[in-house]
Amino acid sequence: MEKYVIKGGSKLFGEVTISGAKNAVVAILPATILADEPCVIENIPNISDVTITLQIMSEMGANIRMRNKNTVEIDTRPLRNMPIPYEKAKLMRATTYFLGTLLGRFHSARVSMPGGCNLGDRPIDQHLKCFTALGAECGIDGGMVDLKADRLIGNQIFFDKNSVGATINGIMAAVKAEGLTIIENAAKEPHVVDLANCLNSMGADIIGAGTDVIKIRGVKELHGTTYSVIPDQIEAGTFMAAAAATRGNVLIKNVIPKHLEPITNKFLKIGVQVEQYDDSIRVIGGENYVGTSIKTHPHPGFPTDMQPQMSAVLTCAKGASMVTESIFDNRFRYVDELRRMGANISVEGRVAVIEGVERLKGAPVRSTDLRAGAALIVAALGAEGTSEIYDIFHVERGYENMEVKLRGLGANIIKVEEPDPVSDSAAAKKAV
Ligand code: EPU
Repeated sequence: MEKYVIKGGSKLFGEVTISGAKNAVVAILPATILADEPCVIENIPNISDVTITLQIMSEMGANIRMRNKNTVEIDTRPLRNMPIPYEKAKLMRATTYFLGTLLGRFHSARVSMPGGCNLGDRPIDQHLKCFTALGAECGIDGGMVDLKADRLIGNQIFFDKNSVGATINGIMAAVKAEGLTIIENAAKEPHVVDLANCLNSMGADIIGAGTDVIKIRGVKELHGTTYSVIPDQIEAGTFMAAAAATRGNVLIKNVIPKHLEPITNKFLKIGVQVEQYDDSIRVIGGENYVGTSIKTHPHPGFPTDMQPQMSAVLTCAKGASMVTESIFDNRFRYVDELRRMGANISVEGRVAVIEGVERLKGAPVRSTDLRAGAALIVAALGAEGTSEIYDIFHVERGYENMEVKLRGLGANIIKVEEPDPVSDSAAAKKAV
């Protein structure tokens, strides 16, 4: 079991380069299953979710060759349609993307339901609604989702719930279906657009990604591509939070400032200085921040995946802040851990009220999920004294070389191997 040991109080200074987006790459890699030729995917982050995805594809027969640590060459022509079992699905919820892509290519798929989630209820009814509309029969048998279709025929689909996963799965299933598919109330997240751009670069006909309505005209074949994944909006936001919490001055490179706007606006509001350039931003911390209100929303609203890290910064902002989580039922599990560091936070349902304190104090704490772990790192960097952060496998699912990048900015952080006194073991390892 590894943990981070962080001695807080060093202001972060210097430059950091953001890696490729986790939530784009976990869709783009399975999407190569739809291609009839080899693909080269660049700017892939070196994170465990990518390792798991590539491992699944390799076990199914894809030829996978790493050209370097961030570029992969994938030939999915030899890939066979095999069930994806629970042992894999429980590690990473994005295994659900194999449903759309296998259905699109083989007209059948058998993938385990992902199971419990640390963030609360995460049904896949909208994914299934979409597959059914395209002509697939959907069943659940022994914990596995079973999809079968004689033909996939384009249709009009209205999502009752705005869902990133269902939108991506819908696009993947429709891309080789016969005729026109129209997805309404589609998710507009940058990673949805990136997936559509990647598929279009293979010869797909998708228009409207990034808006509420996506139109997909089915094509017979998709050719190979060389495609570079967009930078990770949430990794960038996390470094913004780290710079703000330590009152540092950091140039964050390889970002798309437009994707960061909802996050940037909140930092500006509390008193952090943010300068935007073409593909980088500079974050300059202030001595005193003021509390604010945050409500998470689908893109272009404030992203739920930045809610914990932003709350960590607000623990030391003057006055009260109100943080409302409108996407997930259970995204405040990190609050108990921040309280161990001296934060004054009360939670009622989906609303957290944070009363700013002067300074957090280092403590042993446990990551309960990926972004919770990121929030604890932000808090520990700004705190007085030493923190130990356990269950960092959550963080490594989505952040490439987090501690190395932070050390490059002057943070006092090391990763050490040690028996874990606070983890509640296997139950903590559920995927998010
Ligand atoms: N929902 C349904 N039915 C469905 C699908 C979703 O009711 O069929 C609900 C969910 O329960 C939730 C809401 O719709 O309340 C939004 O869920 P969505 O489907 O958009 O989430 P997701 O696709 O499972 C992705 C990201 C998450 C991110 C959410 C929201 C990936 C691989 N995961 O999850 O990322 O929080 O969108 O933006 O893209 C993370 O990176 O830390 C993370 C959890």
